[in-house]
Amino acid sequence: MTLSPDRYSSITIILHWIMGFAFIAMLASGLVMEYVDLDRAVKFPLYQLHKSVGVLLIAAFVLRLAARLFAPTPALPDTLPPLEKTLAKLGHFALYGLMLAMPMSGWIMSSASSSGLPIMVFDLFEWPLIPDLSGNKEIGGLAREAHTILAFTLIGVLVTHVGAVIKHAVVEKTNLLTRMWWS
Ligand code: HEM
Ligand code: HEM
Repeated sequence: MTLSPDRYSSITIILHWIMGFAFIAMLASGLVMEYVDLDRAVKFPLYQLHKSVGVLLIAAFVLRLAARLFAPTPALPDTLPPLEKTLAKLGHFALYGLMLAMPMSGWIMSSASSSGLPIMVFDLFEWPLIPDLSGNKEIGGLAREAHTILAFTLIGVLVTHVGAVIKHAVVEKTNLLTRMWWS
């Protein structure tokens, strides 16, 4: 029997914080793109930035999933009642699903656009569009709808995620952050 570690692996910790802040920035930039009346000179670069970071998050997800599957994961604290353990596992599972579905729906949406505009990652290289989707209004419309619904779902799950960390710190005096950091 191997002993459970008391923190996540270094690769998971690094990816959790980089991806975490990137996702929050993506949600903020997406909402600005959608609901703020921006000048064209700002709007285009913001879309390019949103798409650049967004597609890179697909690559980051592949690494993150590999780390989750192959690196040792700490067992949830024994102080957690069984129901909360189940809820934590469900919440983390939902976050992984959303971390993939969010950028995938954006990639599909952009690939289905009739503009055929390439996705240039920070003007450095081109991220391919998904073949045979260009101009497909039906798939493009569905992907756009999914992108919006998934974004608001992610906001809800994240509020719960951070709320749970705060609740455990305040009510049970268990600092879960030490599991997601080097201590
Ligand atoms: C900035 C606010 C955030 C804080 C304070 C935070 C904190 C934490 C902590 C303490 C854990 C470890 C939970 C445990 O004890 O097992 C954790 C796990 C996790 N967090 Fe966050 N987090 C934040 C943002 C995010 C964001 C934005 C995402 C995704 C978009 C995210 C995704 C995850 C996932 C998927 C896990 C589970 C890791 C695993 O089991 O592999 N977190 N977070
Ligand atoms: C990685 C995570 C991503 C997050 C969290 C995210 C978040 C968002 C949000 C919140 C919106 C506003 C949605 C609304 O209220 O209707 C949005 C819009 C948009 N996103 Fe993303 N996005 C992500 C990835 C991507 C990717 C990878 C692409 C394309 C390659 C993309 C392309 C777009 C476009 C084009 C819009 C504007 C849609 C429109 O004009 O109606 N997103 N995004």
